[in-house]
Amino acid sequence: MDQTIEIIVRHQNRNSTMISPELHSHFIEFLGTCNYEGIWVGEDSEVPNIGGFRREIIEGFKQLEPPVIRWPGGCYADTYHWRDGIGNRTDRPVTYNENFGTYERDTNQFGTDEFLRFCKIVGAKPWININMLSGSIAEMREWMEYCNREENTSISAERVRNTSQQIVPVEYWGLGNEVWGGGGMMTAQGYAQEYRKFATAMPSFSGIDKAEYTKMKRIASGPDGNKPKERVRWTIDFFNELAQYRMPPIDGYDLHFYNWNMKQISQNEVEFDRIEWDEVIQSSFELEEVIQEQRALIEQGLAQIPEPEGFFPAPPKQCALIVGEWGNWHASAFRNRPALFQQCTMRDAVTTALTLDIFHRNADKVQMACVAQSVNVLNSLFLTDKENCIRTPNFDVFDMYKVHKGACLAEIRGEKSKNLYSMASTNGEYLNVNLVNASYDKQTNLFIRLPKEWRFQHIKCLSSDRPNACNTFSDPDRVRMKDGLAPIEREPGLFYFEIPAASVNVCQFALSM
Ligand code: AHR
Repeated sequence: MDQTIEIIVRHQNRNSTMISPELHSHFIEFLGTCNYEGIWVGEDSEVPNIGGFRREIIEGFKQLEPPVIRWPGGCYADTYHWRDGIGNRTDRPVTYNENFGTYERDTNQFGTDEFLRFCKIVGAKPWININMLSGSIAEMREWMEYCNREENTSISAERVRNTSQQIVPVEYWGLGNEVWGGGGMMTAQGYAQEYRKFATAMPSFSGIDKAEYTKMKRIASGPDGNKPKERVRWTIDFFNELAQYRMPPIDGYDLHFYNWNMKQISQNEVEFDRIEWDEVIQSSFELEEVIQEQRALIEQGLAQIPEPEGFFPAPPKQCALIVGEWGNWHASAFRNRPALFQQCTMRDAVTTALTLDIFHRNADKVQMACVAQSVNVLNSLFLTDKENCIRTPNFDVFDMYKVHKGACLAEIRGEKSKNLYSMASTNGEYLNVNLVNASYDKQTNLFIRLPKEWRFQHIKCLSSDRPNACNTFSDPDRVRMKDGLAPIEREPGLFYFEIPAASVNVCQFALSM
């Protein structure tokens, strides 16, 4: 039976939820070939590049307008020493990277100078995750001085010499990564005590004539989103510990959630049947519960923080929920070489769309999210091999979904169909409606009822003849966004759509006056 949904459009007002553009952010790390070979090829490479960065990656990122890029990790950050990656590239030390089966020499050619230049070129804000495991508070402070100090000091002069100021200051600082696991196997209480010291020791970069020091954003390492019991206990314990005595500044809380596909260890990420399709689609929805649960726990935690005695104000009791790593993680990623390399099929594109829509729908609860990872690792948007670079179907999803960044959520009412998921937002002039058909092989038909002043503009559709279709180096555009089938307007404001199986669609309407 056809489904009918009704979209209620309230033009931007104080009650509408704005979709933070930062929900479309990225994560890059030296694992496998994400940073090296993927993004950084070097200035002398035969691969077309812009100052050492692969040209096609720069162009693709620019098209997506990434709000934030998180670096250097991930697990890699837990033993990373920033001084290894600045200045003359021929003088940099060679170390060794054992993270996630990478097992490679680390020439440190892509360091802070390169990361910040990359962010500047593609127009993203950098998020640097500091080393809280083998690093120190002194090292963190010097790294921050190097990136942000405006006054002429020995460290800021070093930056000017190394970068000719072609970089952007860093506002987002992550304190530790997955501290419950590779980041130190800490307890929530132990981490909270470390966090207090690191967060307090951060330079403020404030001054008499400058903006307030709150411009520095401190992001705490949050729980393992994939552990239903532990993640609850972790957040309760962490905020309980912060509620003992004075609260240090805390602007963000970074939980990680991977959509693990480990049931069939021998499975290959491009060969699956209907059951395996459904399993991966269904398990991607857990993140919505995690976000709602964690937002509520953060609010409860903040409510316990004691009011300060005396005259001086305490930091605001606000803390953004961030999903700093998310994406599908198929069992084959552990066997594939380069390490953690995954092909991305229509199944990954559908879960990428469903996940971004979870963020959109919960935009009052979650403020930032970074896909893991952007290039050659896990849920990628780009795959590279020597001089070749292709865009996965996930790239198209991010591209199609750009229209929601900074827009306001519109309300959707109606029956829920088993496989059709919708989300809508408006900027007042346009209304964009996402329609994701998560069925392996069944077309879905539906009616959309809208206030009569909205006129259909176009529909973009990402679909393929097979649910496991993907783009390859020999067939790079097999799965690409195209114009979809326009709806029939059965009566003013009532539109009839036929949505192909296993597809992601964005339909645009414009306000006519
Ligand atoms: O994204 C790959 C790895 O997954 C990251 O390094 C780590 O933070 C997570 O466990």
